[in-house]
Amino acid sequence: MTDPVAAWHAEHHYFNRLLGLLQKQLDVFHGGERPNYELMLDIVSYLRDYSDASHHPREDVAFMHLEKHCPDLALVLARLNQEHRVIAHAGETLRDLLQGIVDGAIVSRAEVEVAAATYLVYYGNHIAKEEEDVLGRAGESLTASEWEDVKNAVPPAKDPLTAGASQERYQELRRQIALET
Ligand SMILES: [Fe+2]
Ligand SMILES: [Fe+2]
Repeated sequence: MTDPVAAWHAEHHYFNRLLGLLQKQLDVFHGGERPNYELMLDIVSYLRDYSDASHHPREDVAFMHLEKHCPDLALVLARLNQEHRVIAHAGETLRDLLQGIVDGAIVSRAEVEVAAATYLVYYGNHIAKEEEDVLGRAGESLTASEWEDVKNAVPPAKDPLTAGASQERYQELRRQIALET
């Protein structure tokens, strides 16, 4: 069986990599050039469709169990749980803006820049906090049956980037990842 904490950490590493790609596009704004909006849209869509739908609901179950073992973490866990909703909301706002641009709508650059920067700061800090305060404690505390609950929090979802899913979705992101590796 895969070590659940290692798998959890690996997902964070991957999300951080995607956020790094998004940051690079945000940096393009500062040079006054046109960022790759299609890539930005792919990254945010992927994080909305996969991370918000699978990763965060599993974490919420892990947090619930962890709080029983470690009441000292109650406030940290409540904040992280709340941040899942904020991240989902911020991601949806950013996705709408990017989709508008890709569809040819006139969208203020400043608005996209602020939405993307907010998303990056928020998401990056969120992952860092979980890595620092939660994963180690969860690894020490959760029982095998609690890890089963975590796994079963949502139906198994194939990672749309790696699991032989549709080739049409996330085309730009696949291309960019292939260039990097
Ligand atoms: Fe989280
Ligand atoms: Fe997380």
